[in-house]
Amino acid sequence: MKLLLGQTLSFHRDPFEGAPEDAARWEPQGAVAVDEGRIIAVGPAETLRARYGDALVEDHGRGLILPGFVDAHVHYPQTGIIASWGKRLIDWLNSYTFPEEARFGDADYARGAASRYFDLVLSHGTTTTVSYCTIHPESVDAYFSEAAARNMRVYGGKTCMDRNAPDNLRDTAQTAYDQSKALLERWHGVGRAEYVVTPRFAPTSTSDQLAALGALWAEHPECLMQTHLSEQVEEIDWVMGMFPEARDYLDIYDRLGLLGEGALMGHAIHLSGRERDRLREVGASLIHCPTSNTFIGSGLFDMAGLKAEGQRIGLATDTGGGSSFSMLRTMAAAYEVGQLRGRPLHPSELLWLATAGSAEAIRAGDRIGRLAEGFEADLVVLDLASTPGISQRSERAEDIWEAVFPTIMMGDDRAVAATYVAGEKMSRIEVSPGK
Ligand code: GUN
Ligand code: ZN
Repeated sequence: MKLLLGQTLSFHRDPFEGAPEDAARWEPQGAVAVDEGRIIAVGPAETLRARYGDALVEDHGRGLILPGFVDAHVHYPQTGIIASWGKRLIDWLNSYTFPEEARFGDADYARGAASRYFDLVLSHGTTTTVSYCTIHPESVDAYFSEAAARNMRVYGGKTCMDRNAPDNLRDTAQTAYDQSKALLERWHGVGRAEYVVTPRFAPTSTSDQLAALGALWAEHPECLMQTHLSEQVEEIDWVMGMFPEARDYLDIYDRLGLLGEGALMGHAIHLSGRERDRLREVGASLIHCPTSNTFIGSGLFDMAGLKAEGQRIGLATDTGGGSSFSMLRTMAAAYEVGQLRGRPLHPSELLWLATAGSAEAIRAGDRIGRLAEGFEADLVVLDLASTPGISQRSERAEDIWEAVFPTIMMGDDRAVAATYVAGEKMSRIEVSPGK
């Protein structure tokens, strides 16, 4: 049993549904009691110290204790090519992404990359990731093994492609089904791992492959399904030329069994009214990846409009189309995209999206993403004065939102004072160099 002391911020509702500043309870001298990997109480430090007198105390001073960040859409194999210059989506995939992903058939290479990736995200305060792996089963084994070595709750799956990709990155409808099924059976529910059925996106799969993965998902509705939807306008034109019978991009997935509750639709920027209605009707989740959308030049996600109509929305880095591993930087980009669309997101809304919002989008909202009794003790402690520039601004703050906003906008891994996974503090991580 241990007691973590610091400021605490715990949400009791979605801040988009009412006054955002009242959606969370702030304790300036708070405490989180943790036992056997779970949160057993959250409250004022004085109360919990009296209640748990014999607990080990870890005092974070003025540090802000939050749930660990939940990154709902990443490509861990793209870690090595993050920040690659000058291309839009299709050229970016062909020039940078596919050559790097081709290396993941080598189990040692995959293992090294997965290890480096998890060290990086933990040092940025992220405790759960939902990742595309590559076509190679080795890349999936590497991802789940390295996560298990850190006891992290993670989600991921083999990325399937049977056309419009290089020869060494293509499977078939049958091998995609067989290998995905074998990996699902090997990893789903083992420790804290969950398998995600993963067709990359419509243009790199034939209808047969999409249908085979739709069938696999129907056999395993307990799993999530992830893919990409309407990220760039050129992509949409390309896709619609390939599937002339479809009403729109979403309809391709819908017809082939790849739309429903538990479907994670990455990007979802350029949507028609019909697509929006259908996404909401089935309860699919939209995953907003703002640093990617600006970096690759994809467009401006309509957060306010989509939330107002009741869509489920998570937040993500989209490493390495996204330009940062940091969910702080990702919240900042979501704020900037909101500004460009005329609706600044409140710090409360941004923090919600990076924690409980993403957790709900991946159907894990009852076990991660909140500072509340019974939840898994994946936590981040933020230093709200991690650089001189942030510190001089937060000193003037008149409430917790004004105190945390400079860290959201200007913070990075230096703001992460500690990361806890299932109640255990991760030691300060040395990220190994890659090549
Ligand atoms: N669409 C299909 N694959 C990808 C990918 O790897 N990154 C991004 N940003 N979009 C995609
Ligand atoms: Zn992606």
